[in-house]
Amino acid sequence: MKTYKTVAGLQKRLGMERQQGRTIGFVPTMGALHQGHMSLIGLAEAENDVTVASVFVNPTQFNDKSDLDKYPRTLKQDSAFLKTHGCDYLFAPTTEQIYPRGESESIDLDISTLTQHMEGPNRPGHFEGVVQVVHRLLSIVEPDKLYMGQKDFQQFSIIAHMLKTLKMKTMLRVCPIIRETDGLAMSSRNVRLKPDIRARSRILYESLMKTKATLEKKSPQALEKAALKSLTIKDFKPEYFKIVDGYTLVPVKDVSQHSYVVACTAVWAGNVRLIDNMILKS
Ligand code: PAJ
Repeated sequence: MKTYKTVAGLQKRLGMERQQGRTIGFVPTMGALHQGHMSLIGLAEAENDVTVASVFVNPTQFNDKSDLDKYPRTLKQDSAFLKTHGCDYLFAPTTEQIYPRGESESIDLDISTLTQHMEGPNRPGHFEGVVQVVHRLLSIVEPDKLYMGQKDFQQFSIIAHMLKTLKMKTMLRVCPIIRETDGLAMSSRNVRLKPDIRARSRILYESLMKTKATLEKKSPQALEKAALKSLTIKDFKPEYFKIVDGYTLVPVKDVSQHSYVVACTAVWAGNVRLIDNMILKS
């Protein structure tokens, strides 16, 4: 695996690959890599001739400066992990390489309908930052396929909207959520959970499973209320639990009127914010 720190270096190499007729799969990440990320690498590898991963902790998507400061930076480890999983190229740029004209240059794309609920109101500016960095990374890598996780349901929905609206040629592939054995969704933040809190963090998965099992029996509002109650235990504080249409991300009132329904939640576990979701109907 070769690592590139500059746009010019990576583009030169990828230009050569493209000239040889090779297809490129791309996995953008912020590092602190785990098996969830590796599932995206595995799929990219299976479906393309060349796999590129990026590790870049994007400052513009952090609405909370202390969250940005606390974000784990483990490039050496990440690089070794990617290498053992057969990634071909690692792009690990500086902020100047990504935003040569400054961080405020934004993308002209209306995402307001998709950010009305869930992460949107709780993290102002977050998705604008995600759109900005993914758009920039795609303009650098120009991949045939882009790999993202269902773990961040609202994020991939917004990126799907971006690709479609801006008529970008990259195809989006979404990968299922990889979980720990007790059901907790893998996340770079999990290492920050205190052991006793970590031991009880499976309640997110359990509340999603319970919601799925009782979907036909109660109204979405009653299910949301029950889930919020079950997530309110010592050290845990739910921020939201929403049952939404999987396409529009708007809360549903009557499940039978929707073909694609997803439950999404964000919960504070001690001082760590965890998110998870589950497709209830598709
Ligand atoms: P990051 O949190 O590093 O996640 C990179 C990718 O890995 C995302 O597409 C995410 O959904 C996926 N992922 C994370 N945990 C997963 C799990 N348990 N199972 C499956 N996939 C998982 O998401 C970002 O970075 C950033 O916002 C980014 C898109 C890179 C833009 O900065």
